[in-house]
Amino acid sequence: MKYRILAAPLLTAFTVVFFFACGNSKEEASKMPGKAVFDNYNCAQCHGAQGEGSKLAPAIDKLGEHFTKAQLIEYLKNPMEYAKQDPRLNEQKKGYPSMMPNYEFIGEEKLSDLADYLLKAYE
Ligand code: HEC
Repeated sequence: MKYRILAAPLLTAFTVVFFFACGNSKEEASKMPGKAVFDNYNCAQCHGAQGEGSKLAPAIDKLGEHFTKAQLIEYLKNPMEYAKQDPRLNEQKKGYPSMMPNYEFIGEEKLSDLADYLLKAYE
């Protein structure tokens, strides 16, 4: 009996802690200017609304382990060229029917905002 009474508040407490532990950087990142760039250029169309990935593109995740900001900008400008010198990307892209588009045309300022956003939301 005692345990049952404890179960509900404990579960609530765990859920709250879990939510904050996982949700914080995305929550903060959603206020950054690069979020609008992500939305305007339909990155979610291939990568999913939360960057979770789809049949068309891999999940966007742990970018900080793979890219500095400068490298990420370079990648976004010309992904296919960049992938040639990165064995992980070169292997990964074989698994998808579509290609990661080239975003050089959006300009340095938006690329910079986008990279800041991506590195925060998908650190
Ligand atoms: C037409 C579908 C498509 C769209 C639209 C698209 N991507 Fe991609 N993206 C891909 C594919 C396919 C790959 C995998 C390429 C590879 O592994 O080299 C990829 C890879 C990536 C990666 C590298 C992930 C890793 O594993 O390191 C990032 C970051 C990324 N995309 C960000 C974006 C952003 C930001 C946008 C919008 C500005 C975008 N993508 C739009 C298809 C897409």
